Amino acid sequence: MAKRKTRTPKVPASLPPVQQGLVSPRRNVPSSITRPPYALTGDPGPSILPLVRTQSEIESMRKAGSIAAEVLLRVGEKVEAGTTTDELDQVAHEEIVRLGAYPSPLNYRGFPKSVCTSVNEVVCHGIPDSRQMQDGDIINIDVTVFYEGVHGDTSVTFLVGEVDEYSQHLVNVTRNALDKGIQTVRNGSRVCDIGQAIEKYAHSNRLSVVREFIGHGVGPEFHSALAIPHYYDRRADTELLTGMSFTIEPMLNLGGNALHMWDDTWTVVTTDGRRSAQFEHTLVVTDNGCEILTKTSSGTIPSEVFAG
Ligand code: MF3
Ligand code: CO
Ligand code: CO
Repeated sequence: MAKRKTRTPKVPASLPPVQQGLVSPRRNVPSSITRPPYALTGDPGPSILPLVRTQSEIESMRKAGSIAAEVLLRVGEKVEAGTTTDELDQVAHEEIVRLGAYPSPLNYRGFPKSVCTSVNEVVCHGIPDSRQMQDGDIINIDVTVFYEGVHGDTSVTFLVGEVDEYSQHLVNVTRNALDKGIQTVRNGSRVCDIGQAIEKYAHSNRLSVVREFIGHGVGPEFHSALAIPHYYDRRADTELLTGMSFTIEPMLNLGGNALHMWDDTWTVVTTDGRRSAQFEHTLVVTDNGCEILTKTSSGTIPSEVFAG
């Protein structure tokens, strides 16, 4: 095959800042689909459930995780310049309900859409809107679904067209950083081992680590009590046990790790305007390691399919 000629700009992207667009009306979920308890009021309440899952919960989490992965594969195909983040939300929403699941973000603490779409300097929790993706953008799409009473939570950062080399580095290192964190997990390892591995790898690749947003226990509750920092914190000395399920979802930045929030009270951006990337998996601890739950039933991991 002939080598494709590309003109990848080497300099960091200095596109105009991401701006708020128009948010479309709320999408409908068929009444046949089982909703999580917060769907009506927006209030998930405090986390009260145990950290270790039953066999039957884990079985259901495999299904929820595989649905979330299928949805990411489907939405990832639609990532191209000119498509709006609202259109990505629509594709995700329709696929999620087609597969019989509820889009967990919808009305979670009042969140207005079915997925989060976080472009360029947006770190997380971007709200899908009328903004068109542009050649050179990076975009994280974060899919969580509720199925058989449990959540599966996963995200990938995609490249839109030709992306500058700094952004490619950011996205590749962030994908690998998630793997470094996952590799520490087994029955008897500690929560702080995860962040230590991620932070070491990020710093050795000249990237900073977001501290305000961390991984979390997940299962019957969207965000349960277990807290998973992506940096070393010696207080995170909880011992991981077979059957615990949680996310690892590092956000790494090209510049500093200072953040601020838009007045929509959701969208989190880097203060210096430089780009941020994120990858996320839901996993369960096993005796010798862990099982990634957010892969398709045939074992496909979306971030491997779309690897830049
Ligand atoms: N999926 C996100 C996470 O990884 C949470 C999104 S909450 C929402 O934890 F309300 F913003 F959707
Ligand atoms: Co999460
Ligand atoms: Co998520």
